Amino acid sequence: MRLAILTSRIRVEEKLLVEALKRRGVEFELIDDGELLLDLARPDARWRSYDAVFCRSVSQSRGLAVLQVLEHWGIPVFNSSATTATCNDKLLTTLALLRDNIPTPRTMLAFDAPHAVEGIEQLGYPAVLKPVTGSWGRLLARINDRDAAEAVLEHQETLGSYQHHIHYIQQYVDKPQRDIRAFVVGDRTICAIYRSSEHWVTNTARGAVTTNCPVTPELNDLCVRAAHAVGGGILAVDVFEDEEQGYLVNEINATMEFRNSIAPTGVDIPGEMLNYILGAVRHTGELDLVPVNVVREEREEVTV
Ligand SMILES: Nc1ncnc2c1ncn2[C@@H]1O[C@H](COP(=O)(O)OP(=O)(O)O)[C@@H](O)[C@H]1O
Ligand SMILES: [Mg+2]
Repeated sequence: MRLAILTSRIRVEEKLLVEALKRRGVEFELIDDGELLLDLARPDARWRSYDAVFCRSVSQSRGLAVLQVLEHWGIPVFNSSATTATCNDKLLTTLALLRDNIPTPRTMLAFDAPHAVEGIEQLGYPAVLKPVTGSWGRLLARINDRDAAEAVLEHQETLGSYQHHIHYIQQYVDKPQRDIRAFVVGDRTICAIYRSSEHWVTNTARGAVTTNCPVTPELNDLCVRAAHAVGGGILAVDVFEDEEQGYLVNEINATMEFRNSIAPTGVDIPGEMLNYILGAVRHTGELDLVPVNVVREEREEVTV
């Protein structure tokens, strides 16, 4: 068994994964995504030596591109490119959740400022505007009135990149100064944390404090269904508690950070992730790299 971890920089998470691999005696290699040159029709011998590749790239777009190429070459990857593409995009995630009848905050889409304002007014103030791609709570706006709506939309349209011209408008959920981050590995919610903050944006990257959140059967069921809706794998599901609507799944992350979640939950998150990958690869048998022209047919068999 030989595993490659694709990284952009070695964060605490990657160090923990490396320690867990060493403890298991699994051979591994760290691959810096910045140093790759992929000759698409000619995978070099290096790739043949891996039984699986675990994507931990910090860059969502870079990680997804590498996953797509590796899958094309028939290399088992975690998470799949399809799951990763859905999670990287809040619109695709919301549509996947709606398709599977998973409760999620009411969300609208508009492509110009007047229609976006109309959507915000239909949802009522406050409302939330988010870029469809992004993480760590960056560039989110809580819109408290029409003046703010017009100002933020004008900034987005004038100064934003093309992604900001898709206005993803969401009902503000009056959550209890916290949200829930649940870790799903395969068919199980292995643990969950509350992320508490004075601020309405409760990402740990923005200073939220983490405490254990008990995984009830209801929470487990919801999070596993949400994870499956986006294709399944090793996922972090963000959940809001709404007084009237109950749990609402906000978004799902395919390459999550977990450094602040191990101590409060007491769960060996990196160990659980690796057990899942190693188990899945063993289950599908030894995989030789197949010739590129038959990869698509063979891929059926290596889906994990
Ligand atoms: N509709 C909403 N209502 C209330 N709080 C929200 C809403 N959307 C986002 N938030 C807050 O902002 C945080 C970040 O939003 P999220 O959609 O998860 O984007 P990111 O990808 O940046 O993490 C959430 O964890 C939550 O605390
Ligand atoms: Mg989030």
